[in-house]
Amino acid sequence: MAQNENFLQREVNGNKFELLQGDITKQETEAVVNAANKKLAPGGGVAGAIHRAAGPELWEESKQLGGCETGEAKLTEGYELPAAYVIHTVGPVYSNSPEDPKLLESSYKNSLELAKEEGISSISFPALSTGAFGYPERKAGEIAINTIKSFLENNGIPELVRLVLYGESSFRLHEKLFNETFESR
Ligand code: APR
Repeated sequence: MAQNENFLQREVNGNKFELLQGDITKQETEAVVNAANKKLAPGGGVAGAIHRAAGPELWEESKQLGGCETGEAKLTEGYELPAAYVIHTVGPVYSNSPEDPKLLESSYKNSLELAKEEGISSISFPALSTGAFGYPERKAGEIAINTIKSFLENNGIPELVRLVLYGESSFRLHEKLFNETFESR
């Protein structure tokens, strides 16, 4: 991948953790993560973009899966996407309750566990829950970065985890959090 200004990479336990400004539907990692709803139905934001880019077969497969609870993750094929698989996870709707951070952490962790079980070597995440679900971006970003980093430290896989931020301001905020997290080791 071409290195551009809005890209950062760190090595964790021999694997790569990347931050990129871009579009989740364009990522060529083996799996991309969908910020799904409980019905796994096409929606707006990431879910809408993923379903449009993957084509109608994605919904045909998704609707057989019996939905998905908040914090859980389910796997489908990627169809017309560059990614072979989509891991669908439902982040929490932000309510400022103590459950929010636990559920958001579960969404990242269960997606990574599913990738591990399936032998998926590279995976791209969007900033789960920070759009329609209203999770404050800084709080969500801290959870995303810490959960991915811990998973890589403890499991040594996948080979590559990429957090894909949509837009410059979102990238800059996550860049700051990413650097702070790695500097405080
Ligand atoms: N690539 C990467 N990131 C994107 C893209 C894209 N193509 N489109 C939007 N984003 C960003 C948003 O800017 C936001 O920061 O992804 C983040 C998550 O936004 P949402 O897709 O709204 O996800 P979420 O907050 O988890 O809400 C999920 O929205 O579309 C519905 O059906 C979906 O009900 C579910 C809910």
